[in-house]
Amino acid sequence: MGQPTNLYSDFQIILLLSLCWGQRSNPDDERPSCGRCDLRLSCNCSFDGFTRVPMVTDHALSLDLSYNNITVVTDDDLTGHRQLRVLSLHGNKIAEIHPSAFNPLWSLEELDLSKNQLTALDQKWFNKLEALQQLNLLNNPYSCLGSPSVFQGLVRLRRLHFGGPVLEELKRGDLSGVTELEELTVHANNLMRYESGTLAYVWPLGRVTLSLHSPFLTNEALASAVLSDVSYPETPVIIEDLHLIGNDTVQPFRAAAKKRIRYLTLRNISLSDEALVNFLEEFSGVPLTFFMGDGVTLTGEGRWERARWTDQKSFDEFYIRNAVVLDVFKFVSFLELGFLLQYPRKVSVVNCKVFVMPCLTSALLKNLQYLDLSDNLLSDMTLKETLCDGNGTMKDLRVLNISGNALQSFSLLTHLVLKLSKLTHLDVSRNGYNSMPQSCSWPSTLRYLNLSWTSLTTITPCLPKTLKVLDLSNNDLKNLSQALPALREIHLSGNKLLRLPSGSLFPNLQTLTIQSNTLNMFSHSDLQSYQRLQSLQAGQNKFVCSCDFVDFFQSVMKGSGDVHLTDGEETYICDSPLFLQGEELGQVHRSIVECHQVLFVSVSCGVVLFVVILLSVLLWRLHAIWYLKMTWAWLNAKRNSRQRRCKDRDSEALLSFDAFVSYSERDASWVENFLVPELEEPRETDEGIMNPRHPRPLTLCLHKRDFLPGNWIVDNIMSAMERSRRTIFVLSENFVQSDWCRYELDFSHFWLFDGDSGRDAAILILLEPLSKDDVPKRFCKLRKLMSSTTYLEWPQEEEKVEGFWRSLRHALRGEEEEDD
Ligand SMILES: *[C@@H]1O[C@H](CO)[C@@H](O)[C@H](O)[C@H]1NC(C)=O
Ligand SMILES: *[C@@H]1O[C@H](CO)[C@@H](O)[C@H](O)[C@H]1NC(C)=O
Ligand SMILES: *[C@@H]1O[C@H](CO)[C@@H](O)[C@H](O)[C@H]1NC(C)=O
Ligand SMILES: *[C@@H]1O[C@H](CO)[C@@H](O)[C@H](O)[C@H]1NC(C)=O
Ligand SMILES: *[C@@H]1O[C@H](CO)[C@@H](O)[C@H](O)[C@H]1NC(C)=O
Ligand SMILES: *[C@@H]1O[C@H](CO)[C@@H](O)[C@H](O)[C@H]1NC(C)=O
Ligand SMILES: *[C@@H]1O[C@H](CO)[C@@H](O)[C@H](O)[C@H]1NC(C)=O
Ligand SMILES: *[C@@H]1O[C@H](CO)[C@@H](O)[C@H](O)[C@H]1NC(C)=O
Repeated sequence: MGQPTNLYSDFQIILLLSLCWGQRSNPDDERPSCGRCDLRLSCNCSFDGFTRVPMVTDHALSLDLSYNNITVVTDDDLTGHRQLRVLSLHGNKIAEIHPSAFNPLWSLEELDLSKNQLTALDQKWFNKLEALQQLNLLNNPYSCLGSPSVFQGLVRLRRLHFGGPVLEELKRGDLSGVTELEELTVHANNLMRYESGTLAYVWPLGRVTLSLHSPFLTNEALASAVLSDVSYPETPVIIEDLHLIGNDTVQPFRAAAKKRIRYLTLRNISLSDEALVNFLEEFSGVPLTFFMGDGVTLTGEGRWERARWTDQKSFDEFYIRNAVVLDVFKFVSFLELGFLLQYPRKVSVVNCKVFVMPCLTSALLKNLQYLDLSDNLLSDMTLKETLCDGNGTMKDLRVLNISGNALQSFSLLTHLVLKLSKLTHLDVSRNGYNSMPQSCSWPSTLRYLNLSWTSLTTITPCLPKTLKVLDLSNNDLKNLSQALPALREIHLSGNKLLRLPSGSLFPNLQTLTIQSNTLNMFSHSDLQSYQRLQSLQAGQNKFVCSCDFVDFFQSVMKGSGDVHLTDGEETYICDSPLFLQGEELGQVHRSIVECHQVLFVSVSCGVVLFVVILLSVLLWRLHAIWYLKMTWAWLNAKRNSRQRRCKDRDSEALLSFDAFVSYSERDASWVENFLVPELEEPRETDEGIMNPRHPRPLTLCLHKRDFLPGNWIVDNIMSAMERSRRTIFVLSENFVQSDWCRYELDFSHFWLFDGDSGRDAAILILLEPLSKDDVPKRFCKLRKLMSSTTYLEWPQEEEKVEGFWRSLRHALRGEEEEDD
């Protein structure tokens, strides 16, 4: 009774164990996996609809899980990822993270948790992330950072981004543990409580970005406190999302001005005239050198002249991008701003729908060295106005960027810039020049010219010979034959060039980019013609992967020679031959057969020819043809013989001859004169005496006489043998040389040994002395026969002839005698 109970409980335990097992492995079964990892072990699993952290190879170095629907990070979601350097969970719905979820990530350097649903931050998450350098917590719905400081253990942290739409409070101690930063971003558009000094202990402090929309509008004191804590002369400050209308809203800048900040950027702001004047007043005398407005809406009319008395002497660089003037038609001329324009050396007005800068305004830009008017609406006519008809105003101008406008006349351009006697850089890319004149004059100082995206179809000697950098990419060029002796760098990507331009045109060239053209290949001598070339980028062309080119390319890739391919080798793809289309040039392997076709074909033909000759010689030596003929004939004969035998069953009836005589034509006289008379017409006396019981003469079968004309000779031979009791072979030198005799011999052999007749059915007559060794080796049958069958020799002496005939007759009749 005891035993079954034990068994039952054992079974229960096993069942229980397996249940536990099932439960343990269950979560992993459900976990999705993501295999989108590249060779650099960077896995991109973004936009994949994952609702939980998918399984990814443990070797991954970077993992992008952005824009999924992940809601929770559990404690074993990231186990095994000790090597992970970068993890992005941006744009998910994460509301919950297990306190030890990130503990396995010992090597993590960058963590992005921005744009999720985290309502509170937990210091335990980051406990073990000692290698962390960058942390992004932006745009989560937490209202405070929480204490103790979440950043306590992050000794390596250099880039920190936090805050969000509901961040209300920042207290001293919130950032304890953070010492120095290269980058700090705080989104605090709705900040309500700020303990002065919270951000003050971070130093040195790199770039700071602050979003402080409502503090600037409603709580200047708070905004001032924040600004004051991060303002240092060397720290560029970026302030976003401001709506500056009255004097009050500009107050907080006073704190920054007091700290004498030098780099200020305002991003996404709207600005009234009053606010701007006040702003200028606040910064009067402050050594602000760099001001940038990015995304500026000017709500006023540009009446800023009230700030004329302010001191902006240190104002050096002015950059405005994406600016909109709400009421363009009321906006006053820039002339009013003359007091501002006389100082800066660098002015950029990018993408601001500027269609003209009047000559008078240009004349005010006395110190100007750098002018960037890219992405505006300048035309040939308005450029003429802007550059005062080319009379050389802006005499210190070194860089002129008028990229992305609507310019068309190349000759006008050269005329307008000729007198800019210090001009070194000219960027006229993304304009509509279709052609250039045959000859032009340029400032002798010009070193850099950007003519990319200008629809040029040909290049003429117009190009300045002083150029060091020339960008002709993305045009319609088919060839290039202008010599530019000083050129260091040329960009020719996106054209229709069929080959590398000759290197002799550019003796000083160091860098050449010629991607996305119609280049088929380039050779050693092509590269040799460039004396100083170091860097080449030629990917994305339609390469013909010939053997020579593949060899050469792979040697260049390995770094033999002075030229280095500086674009990724994965961009060099074969276009032809067809079977290599799409393959990476660096990976292609061409075999010797493909590469040396002529040689290969001639060598293999030679080999085949040699083998054929060798074989023929061999066959000839071994008489193979003869054997073949033999075998074939024998097969045929056997078939015929079988048919014959079927036709008449009674084999005895067939035996109509006593013997078939096989002899060479040359021995015919002996057969006809001696053998036949002797055997077929026996002398009465002899016969009677010799063999009274058998007076019958012998019948012989001779091919000459007894073969059926019209029948195939082999058949004839076969049937003759079948119909004869015995076969007489008249052996001689002639016999050995006769083909037919050989057949006969062989047939007889088959016949003799196939059939029921004995070995003695063959009778050999040696017409002349012939030893077994005189018989050629291939007559192996004859040789065998000779060694096993006694043969009769035709005697040379007259007196022995009689005995010979007797023996022969005896041999022929032997069987019958025995029968009796
Ligand atoms: C991952 O792919 C998305 C587009 O699918 C792209 O926007 C993102 O930059 C990629 N991430 C990385 C790390 O390359
Ligand atoms: C994420 O979930 C939302 C609804 O909850 C759905 O509309 C969206 O398509 C999902 N995203 C993906 C990538 O599956
Ligand atoms: C710009 O700032 C306004 C508030 O002044 C804000 O509503 C808007 O979302 C901001 N735009 C961007 C693109 O950040
Ligand atoms: C605000 O601006 C007006 C006119 O520009 C000026 O009269 C007034 O004194 C300013 N207020 C402050 C507080 O600066
Ligand atoms: C160029 O012309 C403008 C107006 O036409 C004038 O103000 C300026 O002085 C001239 N500059 C030179 C260098 O001639
Ligand atoms: C000119 O402006 C374009 C567009 O802003 C920029 O890509 C280019 O680098 C600038 N050129 C120079 C010489 O600064
Ligand atoms: C030339 O201009 C294009 C377009 O503005 C820009 O992308 C390119 O970088 C410039 N080339 C050089 C060599 O700076
Ligand atoms: C360059 O191409 C143009 C037009 O395709 C042709 O007229 C010209 O002769 C070519 N120049 C050279 C040097 O091949």
